[in-house]
Amino acid sequence: MCGIVGVLGDHEAAPILVEALKRLEYRGYDSAGIATVHDGILDRRRAVGKLVNLSDLLVHDSLRGKAGIGHTRWATHGAPTVVNAHPHQAGPVAVVHNGIIENFRDLRQEVAAAGMSFVTETDTETVALLTQIYMEAGLGPVAAARKTLSRLEGAFALAFLFQGEDDLIFAARKGSPLAIGHGDGEMYVGSDAIALAPLTDRITYLDEGDSAVLTRTSLEIRNADGDLANRPLKQIQLDQARIDKGGHKHFMAKEIAEQPTVIGEAIDHYLSRDGARVVLPEPGLDFAKIDRLTMVACGTAYYACVTAKYWFEQVAGIPVDVDIASEFRYREPPIPARTAALFVSQSGETADTLAALRYCQGKAAGIVSVVNVPESSIARESDLALPILAGTEIGVASTKAFTCQLTVLLMLALKAASDRGVLEDAALADRLSALRALPGVLNVALERETEIAEVAARLAEARDILFLGRGLMYPLALEGALKLKEISYIHAEAYASGELKHGPIALIDKSVPIVVLAPRDALFDKSVSNMQEVMARNGKVLLITDAAGAKEGGEGAWQIIRLPATDPILTPILYALPAQLLAYHTAIAKGTDVDQPRNLAKSVTVE
Ligand code: F6R
Repeated sequence: MCGIVGVLGDHEAAPILVEALKRLEYRGYDSAGIATVHDGILDRRRAVGKLVNLSDLLVHDSLRGKAGIGHTRWATHGAPTVVNAHPHQAGPVAVVHNGIIENFRDLRQEVAAAGMSFVTETDTETVALLTQIYMEAGLGPVAAARKTLSRLEGAFALAFLFQGEDDLIFAARKGSPLAIGHGDGEMYVGSDAIALAPLTDRITYLDEGDSAVLTRTSLEIRNADGDLANRPLKQIQLDQARIDKGGHKHFMAKEIAEQPTVIGEAIDHYLSRDGARVVLPEPGLDFAKIDRLTMVACGTAYYACVTAKYWFEQVAGIPVDVDIASEFRYREPPIPARTAALFVSQSGETADTLAALRYCQGKAAGIVSVVNVPESSIARESDLALPILAGTEIGVASTKAFTCQLTVLLMLALKAASDRGVLEDAALADRLSALRALPGVLNVALERETEIAEVAARLAEARDILFLGRGLMYPLALEGALKLKEISYIHAEAYASGELKHGPIALIDKSVPIVVLAPRDALFDKSVSNMQEVMARNGKVLLITDAAGAKEGGEGAWQIIRLPATDPILTPILYALPAQLLAYHTAIAKGTDVDQPRNLAKSVTVE
């Protein structure tokens, strides 16, 4: 949530800041702004809405200076207006902020008592005002910013720029990520390395509680106790090619299409050379020593966990608790002995998931994470971090990260079954060979796109849509409904098919399309019975199934989408594709902003 960037360079900062913000826009797009120091003068430009509005403003009202900070906002405190847009300036200091200052009300009172007045409704303005007060009391910029930091509660990544200082940025992180980029005689700071990718691949990540003083030629990092800290400089490999749309109209379309490739790469990564076993990176995990799993995540990643519960329980015989991170973290659940805790997160920075992980540290028999960003906080704080290798995901609605999460979780469940002796070697090899064939099956599913787009154009007229699924298709129904609502803004809800008659069936009439996800598997007949109950009440069923399912249960359905048949265990990954395409094309038909849907941000670093 919110992206921040800073540059101390050798060229005009404004275009560099805007370019970097473009790469951070996935973190929020309610407003954008930059501040620079030129001839000692601190000045700023801000615009409401997407970054393009700031770019337009800068064409008419340019901002000079080679030192600057920038921000793209996902509004927390205060409406998305120019006044509330970052950078916030108070006298000689400008600040950009990602996170929430939880004690800002108390600080506001204190600042007001000191005779300062507020112009914004934000929590961040307090940070700028406090720093101004300390500077006016005689402290230098860095000392004033440090004193301000010591007063702040909550989660933040902050960057400060000061009047009269065109070779200084002060930055700090607590709860929100921050990366420092090293150039040749230039220094950068950004919410993530992607923002800095065109500028440098030499990155130092700040640790929790760190603060940093940047000049063009030096970097001084101090830890939470104020002691000098040595943080490693890493060469980051960011695949530039994967950060553009690659000829697709939207990042989401590109990311949907990439799935056969990235899933294939993830499978190869975890397969032994002979393809007969699943191999984990060090220190590994022996499921024979684990009696129980607790899985925690948010949103789409949570639905990946719900799917994995079925796999771990059915295939490996391990009981699994699955929780939404924002509930788990405050419920203080007991963690029984020999329980491993598993956290799933694309960004690896989701505040609630990170807090849930920290709750489990010292209690669980191991902290495992399944992440897309290997340098993320969640990965770094885990005993074992398993990358999903999806590549950078820019579309706000998660697609390839979801199916890569599923792939890694399935391989983990198969390893668990083998470790616990409930899956013979030969059976494991069979399953893994079906998995290796999956990318080809996914390519066939993607060929249904035109057909799915036609159905989606009709779904776009609906006000409400229901998704139904049983067994492994139930979590996928939840994910399908989430995808649809987040990008098309159509109200969608998902139910376990068998649950419908316990209440939700009252919603059914001829205006409500019902998407039924039902491969011809062991539960198919039961799904068909539930579908009949819906059709008997004039429900309009869109059945997503395979050829056998269409033949045996398709009669009376409004529309049928036929997918290739596959090992039932793999159906969540396969059926995710039509669910994503359905959401994508419904959104296209409605003309919504697919990659940057309203009110959302990709990396949720606030509670
Ligand atoms: C939905 C979506 C979100 C995320 C959720 C968790 O398409 O992307 O629901 O899945 O915010 O984010 P991560 O996986 O980064 O922890």
